[in-house]
Parts: sequence; C-alpha cells; structure tokens
Amino acid sequence: MTGVETEHKGWLGRSVKRKEDARFIVGRGNYIEDIVLPRMLHMAILRSPYAHAKINSIDTSAATELPGVVAVVTGELLAEHKLAWMPTLSGDTQAVLATDKVRMQGQEIACVIAEDRYIAHDALELIEVDYEPLPAVISPQAALDPTAPVIRDDKEDQTDNKIYHWEAGDAEATEKAFAEADKVVRLVTHYPRCHPAPLECCGCVADVNPATGKVTIHMTSQAPHAHRTVFALVTGLPEQDIQIISPDIGGGFGNKVPIYPGYVVATAASLLLGRPVKWIEDRTGNLISTGFARDFYMDGELALKQDGTMTGLRVKMLSDQGYAYADAQPSKFKAGLFHIVTGSYDIPAAHVVTEGAYTNKAPGGVAYRCSFRVTEASFFIERLVQTAAYELGVDPAELRRQNFIPADKFPYTSATGFEYDSGNYEPALDQALERVGYKKLREEQKRARKEGRLIGIGLASFTEVVGAGPSRQFDILGIKMFDSAELRVHPTGKAILKLGVKSQGQGHETTFAQIVAHELGIPAEDVTVREGDTDNTPYGLGTYASRSTPTAGAATSVAARKVRDKAKKLAAHLLETAEDDLEWEPGKFFVKGAPDRSKTIQEIAFAAYTDHPQGMEAGLEAVNYYDPPNMTYPFGSYAVVVEVDRGTGQWDVKKVVAVDDCGTRINPMIVEGQIMGGLTEGYAMAAMQLITFDEEGNCIGSNFMDYLLPTSWETPSFELGETTTPSPHHPIGAKGVGESATVGSPAAYVNAVVDALAHAGVRNVDMPMTSDKVWAALNEAGLAE
Ligand code: CDP
Repeated sequence: MTGVETEHKGWLGRSVKRKEDARFIVGRGNYIEDIVLPRMLHMAILRSPYAHAKINSIDTSAATELPGVVAVVTGELLAEHKLAWMPTLSGDTQAVLATDKVRMQGQEIACVIAEDRYIAHDALELIEVDYEPLPAVISPQAALDPTAPVIRDDKEDQTDNKIYHWEAGDAEATEKAFAEADKVVRLVTHYPRCHPAPLECCGCVADVNPATGKVTIHMTSQAPHAHRTVFALVTGLPEQDIQIISPDIGGGFGNKVPIYPGYVVATAASLLLGRPVKWIEDRTGNLISTGFARDFYMDGELALKQDGTMTGLRVKMLSDQGYAYADAQPSKFKAGLFHIVTGSYDIPAAHVVTEGAYTNKAPGGVAYRCSFRVTEASFFIERLVQTAAYELGVDPAELRRQNFIPADKFPYTSATGFEYDSGNYEPALDQALERVGYKKLREEQKRARKEGRLIGIGLASFTEVVGAGPSRQFDILGIKMFDSAELRVHPTGKAILKLGVKSQGQGHETTFAQIVAHELGIPAEDVTVREGDTDNTPYGLGTYASRSTPTAGAATSVAARKVRDKAKKLAAHLLETAEDDLEWEPGKFFVKGAPDRSKTIQEIAFAAYTDHPQGMEAGLEAVNYYDPPNMTYPFGSYAVVVEVDRGTGQWDVKKVVAVDDCGTRINPMIVEGQIMGGLTEGYAMAAMQLITFDEEGNCIGSNFMDYLLPTSWETPSFELGETTTPSPHHPIGAKGVGESATVGSPAAYVNAVVDALAHAGVRNVDMPMTSDKVWAALNEAGLAE
C-alpha cells in the first residue's frame, strides 16, 4: 500500500454510467426465476395459519396421491436426517419444518415437490394438519412477564422468553452525570417492525448431481460464501462440493442475509430425489416469514447543563426478536451496534442496556439497509436531541452544533467505546441549513402559525458506523469479517476482478471497475467484475450494512497496487532501467526525466505473458483479503420541511435537503441513487410502512394492500448536498454510503412533524405517522380543527 489517496480525479468522483444497466433495461438480467434446468421440479411451502399451536398430526396422503406430486416433505422426514432444525446466523436455532409446535404465523410446515408449480400449490390444500392453538405472545413486554408461556420450550435450558441482556458504556460515570445534571430530558418511543420488501422475493434452484455429488445452489443470497460454509456445517456435505451461485438479485436490503427454510428443504429434496428443485417465494411468504427489521422499544434520557452542554446519556432498549434470534449479529455485539447511540455528539458518559425477547412472530432484526441496529440508535438520539431543544427552549440546530464532536477531536473515542475514524459535522449542518433556507423558514413558521397553519422543520445530523469489519471485533458464526478481491490482468491489458461481496443493485460492476481504473489506468470498461459464485470468487462475507466499499473496495485497491508493484518490475525490465528510476502516472511507467521512455500498463500486461524476465513468475495478478483497521464513519445532516393539516392530521413534505459525507465518492451518480433510495425508505417508515399483529398473532401487513410502500406518486423530491471527509485508513478514503439515508432520514421526517406541533407541547408521534395518529396528537394539543 502506498498511503491514502483522497483527491477526486481521474476515475474517482466520476459518474460513469452503470455497466449492469445495459442488460437490465433490455430485460436480459438473470434472476432466480430465469434459471431453468432440465428435469427441474417445483416446490411450494405450506405455512401455519396460527401464531402458536401444538401440532398433533400432519396427514400428507391426499397430497402425495395428486398426479404430478413427486414428494411431500415434513419435519418428521427432515428429523430422520437431523435437518428439522437449523442454526441461525446468531447461533440460535430455527425450525426448518415444524415438528412439535408452530411458533409464528406463516411458519413452514410441509413442502410439496411437484412436476410444476401449479400442482405443487394445489397439493398444499390437500395436506391436513391437526393444530391445537396456544395463546400467542405478541409483544416483548408480554413475553417477559413471568406468566407468559415459554415459546422456545424446545430448547433445554430456556425457561423464559429472554434472549440476551447486553450493556455498553460506563454505568457509574453515567449515574454521576445524571446526579449532577441541571436538566434531564426523556424520550420513550418505538421503532416499529417493518420489512425490507425487496422487489424480488427469495428463491433458489437446488441442483444435487447424483452422479458426482456436486451440489449447486442458485440462490438469492447476499452472502454466498458464508452461506456455503453454513450449508456445509448443517448438512455435513463436503464444502468443496457445494457451489452457491447468487445471480442478479432484485434488491436485498438485508432480507437476503439469513438462511431460510425454503433453501434448505429445496436442497434436501434435490438430494433425495436426484433432480433440480426450484423454490420461488411468493409475496405473502416473503412478508410474513422472512427477516423483519427494527421493532425496538427505546426509553432514554439525556443529561444536560443549563447552557445546553450534553453530559450524559442512558438508554434502555427492548427488542422483539420473534421466535428465533436469527439476524446476522457479530458475536461480540449481541444487540448489534446500538451503542453508537451517542451519535454525532461529544457526550462524556453513556450507558446502554439492551434486551431481546422471543415472541410468536417471524424471526426479526435483519439489518434493513442498516448496520446491525445503527438505524434505531441514530433515530433515537436524533429524536432525543430534538426533544431536549424544546425542553431547553433553544434552537434544535444550535443545540446540535454546540454539542457536535469538534473536528479537531478525531479520531474520537465515544463513551461506549467506538473509535470514530473521522468527522467534520458543522459544514454539513451549515450546508443543509443554508440549502433549506433555515432562518427564513423559522420566520415563515411563526407567521404561518398566526394564520393557523402548521409548518414543521425537522433536522437530523446522524453519524454511522459501517464497513464491518475489523476481524478482531466482527464475525458471523465465528467466521471473521474481512473481504476480498482477486484481480487478473489479461495479456491484452483487459482485466477481471472477482470479489467476495455481492451486489443486489448497488452498481458494483461499475464502481469496483472504477477503482481498478484509478489504481492501474486500465479503463473501467476494460474491467469485468464477477461476484456471487463461490467456485469462482475469493472468500468474503457478502454485501450488507454498507460494507462493500469499505472492505472489498479497499481489497480492490490493495490488489491493484500489488499488480502495479509487479508491473513496475516488468517495466524496469522492458525499459532496461532500475525500478527506482521509474515513475508512475495513471496508465504507464516512465523513466524519471525522460517521459518518452515509457511503457503502458497494456504493454506491460502483454509482456507479463510474453517477455517476462528469467526467474519472474509469468502473469499479472494479485489477491487481497482485506481486514480493515477500523470501521468507517459516514455522516450527514438532513432537513425536512412539512405542513400538517389540522383538519385531517395529514402531513405533506414541502422540502427535503440531504447533505451526506461518505469520504471519497467513487461514482457520485450511484451514491446519489443510494441516498435517494434511502430517503424514500426513510419516508416510507415515517409515513406508512408497518407490519403489525392482532391479539392472536395474525400478521397485518402480509400484502401490498396492507403493507404500504411509497410509489413515485407519494415520494417527495430531494435536494442533495455533499461534504467530503475522507476515511484516513481506507486506501482511497471512501466510506460506505449504501444505508446512510435509510438510517439518517426517519428522524428528520418525525422531527419535522413534531416540530410543527411542538409549540403546543407535543414531543412525540410514533412511526408510522399515519394521519389518525397525527390527528390524535393535534387533538390532544388543542390544535385540531
Ligand atoms: O455494501 P453496499 O454496496 O450496499 O454499500 P456501499 O459500499 O456503501 O456502497 C453502495 C454503492 O455506492 C456501491 O456500489 C459503491 O460503489 C457506491 N459508493 C461510491 O461510489 N462511493 C462511496 N464512497 C461509497 C459507495
């Protein structure tokens, strides 16, 4: 490595059009549904209508007899092969197919394998299950009540519904800060359960070759290598015989990180039947049974001096994990990274207590465009700071500015132990305020109030921790988190780059080629990027939690620099000079003081196969497994302006300004796309997206009539700004950005609605802020019309 390069020039900071779009826009993507293999069978899943019930019996005889049905798989059959239960990515267990009980609505009971999909689905209706309903536990508070039924009575040592208790920070120092505080401000809120709902649901085609024993699983996987290892461990199949191929993916957002029963049963069925088995999940299956996100109850307090200085933070949080603790969670951080909750503020003492509970719901907690609970933490602190501003009677922007971690304090160690690599928060806030016209808006807000109109201005100045991770701290099921790049330059100077991460729409084929172009001067269009095939890419932990750029992006730089080092030796040989006499400029080495005596990277590549010196290995390639020294800490300041209708409780977004800092931007167009997507998702959570349950545990939100996704019609327009504070340890100074706006924006939307009502004493409206909830708040504050 030759140090950090942070200047935006050449191939960095250039909005190269996305290579991958050429095939997507002509309908030539290759998704799971496009994969058709000879003699392929189809699988459908029978799901439980009950949230909690004992299974007395399952009668599959009528289904088995339906012409075209090849097999019906139940938990009993899987149990014979020790496959009725599987480990989760948090080291808990989850049923593949239910045997003793069902513990959530939508739980997988049996699978039909048939000659076509229609027969498979028809046969589901012929399966008779005798259930004995049990009381359902549908909130973590109820789950922790000593009288609650024990949901995981299948686990020997589990005598209640507690999963974990986790603390971070310094309890004593925090108590002291609160004892000495002039003012203590409290916020109690809930970040509701929502679902990533990618456009493409989950699915696979499992193909076990009975002759060779080769297991090929085409699956919607955000982490194919980790999944291969888990498959090998669960099934006992030799890992070298398992190939996971993750083709084009229609959105992941964390939903395609866990391993779901459908993948396992399809693979087991293919193994037993000797034919490929395809499983395509339907929308309801996806919404009710795959990884949910959030569902955190948060109760916290901020200690302040009279002049507004923040002195302490304590937060208690309780999470509803569903019936299995299943989210990918590094073992060192049981509750994820919730303790980033001190956010962008220089708070000297903090203490966080987090607890998780089992409930009769689908396993939850996937990092929906988020790094393991960062979203909830960021939401909480940005809501709490806003509350503190009202209680102190100061401007929310100024309270933030007063307490920002000063630019000269980076690297900064937070009270909960994170070392923030870099930051410079004021310029981002200034820019957001300037762009939104903050001063004028505050005057307009006052004027409007006199006229009986309610305008709200919401801010959020978030900090994130992304890029898992330093392997000393981060793992999945013990597999350390790093990522990889393998770069080979062909004789004609074209290159192939293979990565351990896996794009689900983020544009990796373009941006990672730009990194190679930046490092070697090979044009990005001459670099093919391959991902998602475990036989043909180096081992890596996959793509989620904005980790690809900080890890595989860095690995790409390092691999390219290794290639450049060898290219230099070759150039010295070709130019008959010493290496020390050579200088590099993008695309070529030349002799110092004689720029005409040069060799381009393409000429050098050709020589690597045709004219390399005696004793040197042929070829021009390198591999890097990159273990980042730290996470990266992107940040931003968002401002949202709303007007609330006093008659209906409806709120309209008037303006959204988002200023993001993700260090060096490789491809600004892609970064902006990521941010706009995140701002839309943030709006969705603030306005409409909610999965909820009735008293019996029936999931409300199991289809797109009930689970509302914003369309282009409702989605506001966005104005974007940028500051650039490069990561000091990333080879090109880049930080992750994939999740930033999903993490940062929900608080800005809520703060805006609350701000419109705050003068009348309103301090909170829980998400999603449906018009009935806002109207109730208006009514209580005496503002309703
Ligand atoms: O892991 P994931 O790809 O979801 O997230 P990311 O690495 O934060 O980046 C999302 C996309 O934005 C990637 O395709 C990156 O190449 C691009 N990006 C960029 O161009 N510059 C950055 N500093 C960060 C990301």
